[in-house]
Amino acid sequence: MIEIIDLNRYYDIGKKRFYALKNINLTIDKGEFILLNGVSGSGKTTLLTLIAGMDKPNSGIVKIDNEPIVKLPDQHLSKFRNQHIGIIFQHYNLLENLSVYDNVATPLIPMKLSLKEIDKRVKDSLKIANISHKASSVASKLSGGEKQRTAIARALVTKAPIILCDEPTANLDKANRDIFLDILNKLYKLKKTIIVSTHDPIFNNLEYITQKINLIDGQIIK
Ligand SMILES: Nc1ncnc2c1ncn2[C@@H]1O[C@H](COP(=O)(O)OP(=O)(O)OP(=O)(O)O)[C@@H](O)[C@H]1O
Ligand SMILES: [Mg+2]
Repeated sequence: MIEIIDLNRYYDIGKKRFYALKNINLTIDKGEFILLNGVSGSGKTTLLTLIAGMDKPNSGIVKIDNEPIVKLPDQHLSKFRNQHIGIIFQHYNLLENLSVYDNVATPLIPMKLSLKEIDKRVKDSLKIANISHKASSVASKLSGGEKQRTAIARALVTKAPIILCDEPTANLDKANRDIFLDILNKLYKLKKTIIVSTHDPIFNNLEYITQKINLIDGQIIK
C-alpha cells in the first residue's frame, strides 16, 4: 500500500547539508496501524508530508498503491491525494468561518457527487467522528477536541484508505484524548491504513499497533 525507498530530504544551509530524513526505507501494508515516534525535530512531520505528496524529496521514491507519487504532475497529485489520503494536521486547518458540516463537505467539491451522496457521506463521517451534534456550529466556536473531530470527519469523507495524523493528541485534555483513541480504534476496524506521529505515551500500549517506527535525527532506528 505504501512503499518508501531510499528517501532523503535535506536542506542546504550555507555550506552545510542538514538531513531532515536520511535513507528511509519502509513498507506499510493495507490496514496497518503505524506509530511514528521521535522527539521534536526528528523528522516526523517531514515524513508525513512526503507520504502525502505535499513536499518533494531530494531523492528516493514514495509509492502509494504502486504509484510513484513524486512523478505525478501537480493537478493529478492533488486528485490522487484526495482519493487516497486523509490528513489530520496538528492545528486542524479548518475553515474557521464555515460550519462543521461545510468543512467536512469541502473535500467532496472536486468529486462532482450528487447532493444526496454528499449529504450521506458528510453525515456518516460526522457520526464516526462523534461530532454530528455540532454539524451546524461555526468552526471558530468549537473546542479543541471538537475541532479535531471535525478534522477527522473531513479526513474520512472522501473514503480515502490512508489516514495520516500528525501529533493528534498534543492539544487535547485527557477526556478528549480518550475519545480520540476510541475513534482511531473504529478507523482501524474499518481497515484504514493509519500512521500516527506522536510522542504521547498514551499510544504505547495500544494492542492494534502493527509497527513502531523510531525516528532519531531523520533516521529509522529499529
Ligand atoms: N524548510 C526547512 N528548512 C530547514 N530545515 C527544515 C525545514 N523544514 C524542516 N526543517 C528541519 O527538519 C527537521 C525535522 O523537522 P520536522 O518538522 O519533520 O520534525 P518533527 O519530528 O515533526 O518535530 P516536532 O515534534 O517538533 O513537530 C527539523 O530539525 C527542522 O528544523
Ligand atoms: Mg512535527
